[in-house]
This record gives sequence, C-alpha cells and structure tokens, in this order.
Amino acid sequence: MKHLFLDMENPIGIFDSGVGGTSIWKEVAKTLPHEHTIYLADSANAPYGEKSKEEIVRLSIKNTEYLLKQNCKIIVVACNTATTNAIDYLRSHYKVPFIGIEPAIKPAALQTKTKKVGVLATKGTLSSSLFHNTSKLFAEGITVLEQEGKGLVELIEAGKIESEEMRDLLIDFLQPMLNQDIDCLVLGCTHYPYLIPVLKDILPGHINIIDSGEAVARQTKAVLEQNSLLSNSEDSPEHLFYSNADTEVLKTLVNTPSAKVSYLDF
Ligand code: DGL
Repeated sequence: MKHLFLDMENPIGIFDSGVGGTSIWKEVAKTLPHEHTIYLADSANAPYGEKSKEEIVRLSIKNTEYLLKQNCKIIVVACNTATTNAIDYLRSHYKVPFIGIEPAIKPAALQTKTKKVGVLATKGTLSSSLFHNTSKLFAEGITVLEQEGKGLVELIEAGKIESEEMRDLLIDFLQPMLNQDIDCLVLGCTHYPYLIPVLKDILPGHINIIDSGEAVARQTKAVLEQNSLLSNSEDSPEHLFYSNADTEVLKTLVNTPSAKVSYLDF
C-alpha cells in the first residue's frame, strides 16, 4: 500500500484507454466546476477491450502511477474495461480513492417494461466477473442481451464517428437486440456516448439509451466530500489532457477552450 499526501487543491486524475473517457470528464467538469483535472488518453494502447486481464491491470497501474506523480487526489477510471478488470487491484494497492464506471444495468433493470435490456460493451467488460456479478445482482427476472462492440472503439479513436462503416457496424450489432424486443440499451463503454446522435438516428424512438457518466460525476463529488477533498477555490481550474498518440481526435472531442491538449509519452 503506497501512502501519499492528499491536498484539496490537487487535481482530479482521469484515465481511459483513449479518447472515450472525455465523455466522463465532461460530466465531472460540469458537476465540479472548480476542480483542476488531468486526463490521460492511453490511445497508443487502445483498445483495452481485446487485451487480457493481466495486460489491462498492467496498463491501469502505469496510468495510475503517472497520475499519482502529478499529485492527483482522486482517480477516476473512466473506462468500463479497466474498471471491471483492474479496479480491485488498484484499490488494494494504492491509498488514493478510485471511482470506477460499470455498465448501468441497475437503472436499465428498473426502467425496462419489456424486461429485455441490451448491453453494448467491450469483450473485456462483458467477460469480467465484476460485470457478471452486477448483472446477477440487479437484473433478476430481466433478460440481458450482451453485444460486444468489436471495432467501435477503433473507429471512434480514428475520428470516424459519423462514417458509413460505423452505421453499418451499429446496425449489425443492434438489429438482433431489437428483434428480441429490448426497450433499453446500456452503453457499457465510455467511448459510446459519442455515438448517441448516430444511435438516435438508427434506433426506434421508444428505446431508452442509458449511460453512467452523470452517476460517475456525482459519485466523484460525494467521495471528495466524504474525504474533505473538495476544492475551496472559486477560480477557473486548469484542465490538462495528454495522449500518447495523435492528439487531433482528442482535441476535437474535448472541444473546450480552457483545455490544454498535448502529446505525452507516459
Ligand atoms: N472506454 C473504454 C471502456 O469504457 C474502451 C475500452 C477499449 O479500449 O476497448 O471500456
């Protein structure tokens, strides 16, 4: 267990396998407007979803160690794949609080009328024991139809959100779920909220699209409060974004004037 000094004016650290976790950063920045943030996009190693658990743990340690060197007071694992495979390891080896993200099965199970819910997520998330345990716990009596989103993260990382290729892949993935009468679709990967406009175009209007971004931001605030780590400052915070690959897509998705986006070999 590594000890460290946590100060309320230190930044919030956030990491993802790539650009997708910026969907979570946006919710965090909205909920906590006076907090400094440092975001790591490990795009050189994306996608995590096709890697072994050991490899996902190793990469999550690498990202965590970098954020701790920058004195982050809390770490948001803005990646379902890293959370479901590595958060137990991280929590048991580091003193800093960790916030994770998992597919929002519970709200979907509460909202569904057809008792059929679709989950679109990576192979790494769908095969994890954390995901299976959550499904078992919260989706009793509900049919959960799992679909691996193979190829989606790569297209988003390449900035091809509105491409024909993306549309075709999504239709292939979603049609079987629609045929089975789902009425909720859980976005189980932090890259996927960027697909919402395309999804709304493809899906019938009654399908509820559910993601966990807001819940993660609320939880981050609650944990900072519990640990007396909320910033006291009223100033505009600094937002630093680092990618270990091309920064163009990251810049486009962050799309915030106060954000500084740079290349970094972390
Ligand atoms: N954003 C990651 C997640 O939430 C993408 C995983 C990947 O890189 O495959 O799962």
